[in-house]
Amino acid sequence: MIEPKKHLKELTRTPITPEDRIGRVHRLDRNERTTPFPKEHLRNILNSITEDELVAYPEVEPFYHKLAQWLNVKREELLVASGSDTSIKMVFEVYVQEGDEVVVISPTYGMYVVYCKMFGAVTKEVFYNPDWSLPIERVIAAIGPKTKLVTIANPNHTGTIIEQEDLIKVIEAARKVNALVLIDEAYYHFYSQTMVGYVRQFDNLIIIRTFSKGFGIAPLRIGYTVSNPEIIKQLYKVKQTHDITVISAKAGSYLLDHLEVMTDYVKEVNQSKEVLYQRLPPMGFEVFKSQANFVFFKCPASVDGKKLLADLEKMRIILKGPFNNPVPFTGHLRVTVGSVQQMNMVCDEIKKLITQ
Ligand SMILES: Cc1ncc(COP(=O)(O)O)c(C=O)c1O
Repeated sequence: MIEPKKHLKELTRTPITPEDRIGRVHRLDRNERTTPFPKEHLRNILNSITEDELVAYPEVEPFYHKLAQWLNVKREELLVASGSDTSIKMVFEVYVQEGDEVVVISPTYGMYVVYCKMFGAVTKEVFYNPDWSLPIERVIAAIGPKTKLVTIANPNHTGTIIEQEDLIKVIEAARKVNALVLIDEAYYHFYSQTMVGYVRQFDNLIIIRTFSKGFGIAPLRIGYTVSNPEIIKQLYKVKQTHDITVISAKAGSYLLDHLEVMTDYVKEVNQSKEVLYQRLPPMGFEVFKSQANFVFFKCPASVDGKKLLADLEKMRIILKGPFNNPVPFTGHLRVTVGSVQQMNMVCDEIKKLITQ
């Protein structure tokens, strides 16, 4: 057998299953937008693509300028990539080498640990307390002379957030040891606090965002990085020649011109969360408040989470879980928040199943 690179020998990836979901099931497992993209806006986006554009390599500058303007940053402080997953990987490609330490708050978005393995880094995991609290002192204590990168999703995969003043403490601690801080604001639109405004103040700060969540266009694969021009210049070195497609760029520009598509969806998600907060606790579930488009809940002792999920799946309702580890996920189920109607439907079905 021809050997892969030594770091890759230890790396296993979870297969993406099951497929055959779109239009067939209630997709409440991947934190995508679960309601259809408004038809009229879809038509407008498709109509804006010309015959010429469809045969040429994509011209993405108009999108860059629109995005920079919306973010209130300079063009050279911005780098777009095919999904924020790629944006994150580019940071590892440019800055993380064998033996470097990377601080990761766990549990979180799984790809940080995957990239640590891929690039031979030592993962320094900082775990939440069982009560979902995360003392920032522990994150700071994990930063040492070998730290190259600190990754923080804010809001995190737990739905919890770290306050800006604490993020600043982490950035300052990392700065002292010449380490970068990557703040992943994938779920920014559901929370609305951002560190983008700090990239000029801190030369070790990288912000990553996506169009997959609040803007709701996960399949079009648009992620972007905001940082100082020097970091952006370095990241540019590992950029694919052509990454996002012209359709993605056009859709991205369109959504920036029609922010109501995003704000209406965010409003709907926030209303729908209330349905879960109100209806699940009386059934015995412990529900955790979330600043993102998903909600975690813990089954009471009388309910077998695995069976509940399997029963829901038979009804074509797909949730995620039960999570095995680490805390605070243990034994929890996760539901992507969709429309009020969808959330009521999920609660109705759960109620029926647990009272059978
Ligand atoms: C915190 C976080 N960051 C990044 C991503 C990657 O998103 P995408 O590659 O679709 O931009 C996800 C996807 O679920 C995520 O949850």
